[in-house]
Amino acid sequence: MEQRARKVLIVGMGAFAQGLASLASRSGATASYDVAMGSRRMLPGRSGLLPGLEDTPVRCLEEALPEADMVILALPASGLPDFVSSYGQQLSGKVVVDVTNPWKSDYAKLGCTAGPDCDVDLENKDVEYKDQLDTTDTSSSWSTKMPPGPPKSTSSSSATWLAGALPSSAAVVKSFSNLSAYTLIHGDPLTEHMKSVAASDSHQAAQAAAELGRAMGLEMRIVASLSYAATLEARQHSLLPAWQWPTWLMATTWLLVHTYSFIRYNYYGNAAWYTVILWITNKSIGWVSLWGMVYTYLPGVLVCWWQLLARRPVVRLPCWLKAWMDARKPLGLLSLFTMLLHLLFSTFLWMPSYYSKLWDKTDVAVVPTINSTGLDAFGLIKGGKVPPGLQVIFADDAYTYSTTNSTTMSTWPVSGPRKQTVAVAALNASHPLEMLTTATNIITLRSKLNWIGESSTLLGIISGVLMGVIALTSMPSITPKMNWREWRLLQSRAGWLAVCTATVHVLLLGAPWWPAAKEDWPAMIPTITLMSTIPPMILLLLKGMLVLPPICIMLSRVRSGKWACRDDAGADPLAHTAVFAIKQH
Ligand SMILES: NC(=O)c1ccc[n+]([C@@H]2O[C@H](COP(=O)([O-])OP(=O)(O)OC[C@H]3O[C@@H](n4cnc5c(N)ncnc54)[C@H](OP(=O)(O)O)[C@@H]3O)[C@@H](O)[C@H]2O)c1
Repeated sequence: MEQRARKVLIVGMGAFAQGLASLASRSGATASYDVAMGSRRMLPGRSGLLPGLEDTPVRCLEEALPEADMVILALPASGLPDFVSSYGQQLSGKVVVDVTNPWKSDYAKLGCTAGPDCDVDLENKDVEYKDQLDTTDTSSSWSTKMPPGPPKSTSSSSATWLAGALPSSAAVVKSFSNLSAYTLIHGDPLTEHMKSVAASDSHQAAQAAAELGRAMGLEMRIVASLSYAATLEARQHSLLPAWQWPTWLMATTWLLVHTYSFIRYNYYGNAAWYTVILWITNKSIGWVSLWGMVYTYLPGVLVCWWQLLARRPVVRLPCWLKAWMDARKPLGLLSLFTMLLHLLFSTFLWMPSYYSKLWDKTDVAVVPTINSTGLDAFGLIKGGKVPPGLQVIFADDAYTYSTTNSTTMSTWPVSGPRKQTVAVAALNASHPLEMLTTATNIITLRSKLNWIGESSTLLGIISGVLMGVIALTSMPSITPKMNWREWRLLQSRAGWLAVCTATVHVLLLGAPWWPAAKEDWPAMIPTITLMSTIPPMILLLLKGMLVLPPICIMLSRVRSGKWACRDDAGADPLAHTAVFAIKQH
């Protein structure tokens, strides 16, 4: 006998209700479900409906509710009390799906004892259903009885409130609330991976909602407790939970190191106060980026040392270390972000007046500024020669020219304001050198980076590029496509190379001047290149010891179980269950 199509009524005409109806229609779920939308008011015509919903009937609630097997409440949570008082009795014996994501004010209106901040015992999700499932029941009816379940007065979510407010024969399911209306309207059920959860105290009800979800192309998971609704609702309110403490850590670090740099260079040093805006910020951002790498790679190294010292191939991590391990990705991305800022700032500041140590010094001839009588009609300096091999700068430092054997002053263009001020009296053919002064060991606009400048710049760029590649390969769309060897090469080896190159980049910028700078340290405050490189050097030392014999041999013996802790002999192998993947180190 042909089964009757199961009747699903979506209550509401908003974006979410229409999205669900649209997905049901696009996915082909309407072949086995009789889907309709229900409105409190009959709309004139079908205005406001999405294209593609022409075949989805819009019915008035009084008429449609008694016939429905499943009712999906796509209403604002604030509308639930009104809806329940008007139509609650008509929901007896039906599966009622709550999709709401209440605001805090909605919880107050519903009189929930806990809002989005409530602490829900997640372990509950694994409890077994207490209601006896009749697996032989293949009838198309979804009428369910609510199991004895948790007391209805404990409303920690809109779903539990609903379960308490509706007749006891209505089975409430929390589902679909994690999906956005946009996804429902535009998502492709064939190609996109959309997931949701059906949480209910009634297995039949959860099963029914999950079946509908699967028919619409969603991947559904059943959770055996309506109390999980509080977690689902809270999740919609939490703001980037995985990023919160890594962001605080990085922000606090930046504040501390920025203050240190300000004290070192502006307060005790002789840098102008306004350099704290960009120049000092660039230093502190680079510092934070380097320490961000330390924060990212240190926990993995600590776990390896723990394995070695405990002589256990697998260790159960304490909560703080587990949380730190889990935070490595946000920490690494924040480190990349600050490094990109450092790169951007440095691009604008990369000039000898800020980083004089990194430029080659040269000997120059200085042309004093007098007047412009020696300029020709084209703004060129007339006549005169200067000794070959010198650079020539004008006394106001605005222009620089190199001289070669063949260079004559007449080939040097001068334009703009200089046309009025440049002196050429000194450069006439009879006395070309008399008015020139020479200076040695200074930087001019013609100066090039010295070897330290070139090397540290290159290493900084290499480190940045490597971090960018690591960030790319940690994207959810790329990571699953990588095999173990590729993952290890990019996430581990490339990561360590990035730490090394970044550390050497900073060392090159500072270490050659540490001995001389020691006498100049104001108030004995060390330079920031010294302070910032101590933690990464300790990290590299700890890592270096792990990869070099004999410690690497000892570690591999521990990991293979050949050199295990004696206490573990004969112990339950699950006693020290690993909670981290070696892969990630
Ligand atoms: N939009 C999203 O991306 C999204 C994502 C996840 C979850 N949700 C949840 O889905 C629910 C609906 O969201 P939405 O964006 O579609 O809201 P919406 O655009 O405000 O639509 C709500 C609809 O509910 C109906 N309604 C309002 N008060 C009612 C009442 N007292 N009784 C009966 N019907 C009432 C109205 O339809 P009629 O006037 O025609 O009856 C209205 O069109 C919300 O609880 C929201 O938290 C939404």
